[in-house]
Amino acid sequence: MVTGACFSEFGAYVSCVDVNEKKINDLVEGRIPIYEPGLDILVEKNTKAGRLNFTTDLEMAVADADCIFIAVGTPARRGDGHADLTYVYAAAKDVARHLKGYTVIVDKSTVPVGTAREVQRIIKKENPSANFDIVSNPEFLREGSAIEDFMRPERVVIGVESQRAEALLRELYRPLSLLEAPVFSTTLESAELIKYASNAFLATKVSFINEMSVLCEAVGADVHAVATGMGMDRRIGSKFLHAGPGFGGSCFPKDTLALVRIAKEKGVPCKIVEAVVEANAMQKRHMVKKIRNALGGSESGKKIAVLGLTFKPETDDMRDAPSLSILPPLIEKGASIQAHDPQGMAQAKPILPEEVIYYDNVYDTFLGADAVVLMTEWNQYRGLDLDRVKGLMKGNVFIDLRNVYQHEILVTHGFEYFSVGR
Ligand code: UDX
Repeated sequence: MVTGACFSEFGAYVSCVDVNEKKINDLVEGRIPIYEPGLDILVEKNTKAGRLNFTTDLEMAVADADCIFIAVGTPARRGDGHADLTYVYAAAKDVARHLKGYTVIVDKSTVPVGTAREVQRIIKKENPSANFDIVSNPEFLREGSAIEDFMRPERVVIGVESQRAEALLRELYRPLSLLEAPVFSTTLESAELIKYASNAFLATKVSFINEMSVLCEAVGADVHAVATGMGMDRRIGSKFLHAGPGFGGSCFPKDTLALVRIAKEKGVPCKIVEAVVEANAMQKRHMVKKIRNALGGSESGKKIAVLGLTFKPETDDMRDAPSLSILPPLIEKGASIQAHDPQGMAQAKPILPEEVIYYDNVYDTFLGADAVVLMTEWNQYRGLDLDRVKGLMKGNVFIDLRNVYQHEILVTHGFEYFSVGR
C-alpha cells in the first residue's frame, strides 16, 4: 500500500493488485484497510489524479507494467520460524504467465537469501520466453511513520545484476536524489541479507537495553541515564535504546527468527541473534512479574487498566504485540483487564482473551482499577489528567512499561510508580 501510494506520488502510474476482492473493493470505495498516518490522504490524492488504482485484474496490470513489485507477506512459518514463501512463489507464478515486453520484477517482501534467484527460476520455468530481470529492493519503513520513511529514507538498497534493471529502479527513485538519499546497489544475496541483518541489529539494540534495564533495577541505576550516556557516543548512537516491554510487530520477531533459521540451514552459528530472541521472551515474562509484584505479589481479583495494546503507537497492528504475551497470564491468575487503545481494539478483540473489557473513552478504563499499566506510548497517554485518573481508580499503582512519566510527577499525584529500569 505505502510503496504503491508513494510511487504514484512521485508521478508513476501504479496499479495495486491483490487476490483479496474485499480488500480491493474497500480500496476502490476509498476505505483503507490499515491505519497508517497520512496514507488515506495520499491514496485519495493520487487516485483522483489517475495515477493510482486498485484491482484484482492481475493480467491487465502485469501486461502493462514496466516494473512489478512483489510485496506480499512472508510470515514466520508455524513450528520452525522459517519465512513462509508460499505467497511470494504464488505471486511469481501468476505474474510470469502475463508478462509482455521487458519487465523488471522487484522483490520487496522480506525474504531469505536466495529467494530472488528462486523467483527468477520460477518465472523462467513458467514462461520460458519472458524478457525480464529480477531485483531485490528491501523495505526499511517503520509502521506509523511509513510514508515519511519512504519519502525520506536513510538509504535505498537495490540488489541487481542487470544494468538495464538498475537504471529503471534508479529512475523510479530519482525524486529522492533531491534529498541526496543514497541508492546503494549490490548483489541480490547481499541486498536480501542487508534487510535481515539491519532488523536483527536493531532488535539486538532493543534487547540489549532491555537487559540493562533489568540490571538497573537490581543495582539501583536509571536506564534512561544509562541509555543517554551510551547514546552520546556516536559509534553507539541514541536511537533504539528505549527500554520497554520487549519488541513486537511484523518484522523484528519474525526476521530475527528467520535469520537464526537461515544460519542453521547453512550450519553457521548465529548465537547473538538467538540470544536476542530469548532475551525478548524473557523481557515479556519480566513484565508479568513486575506487574504482579507491583500489585503486592498477586494479581488475583485485581482490576488492571491497560493503556495501549498495539506493538507500538501510530499503528493498529497487533502482530507479536507484547500485550499478547503479558495480559493472558495475568488473566489466568484472576486479574480482570480493562483496556483502551486509540486504533488497535478491533484487531485486538479476536486475539486477546475474551475476558478483556474494552473502552472507547480512555478515562472509563480507570474506573475502580487497582493499577494502571501503560503498555504502548500513544501520545494520548502522555498528557493524562492525573488527578482525574486517581479519582476514578480504587488503587494507586501506576506501572509505566514505556517510561513515559517522570517519577516525581506521579508521586506528587499520589501514585505508587513502577517503571522499566528506573
Ligand atoms: C521495523 C524497522 O524499524 C523497519 O526498518 C523495518 O522495515 C520493519 O521493522 P517497525 O516494526 O514498524 O519497523 O517498528 P520499530 O519502530 O522499528 O519498532 C519495533 C519494536 O521495537 C516495537 O515493538 C518497539 O516498541 C520496539 N522498540 C523500538 C523498543 O522497545 N525500543 C526502542 O528503542 C525502539
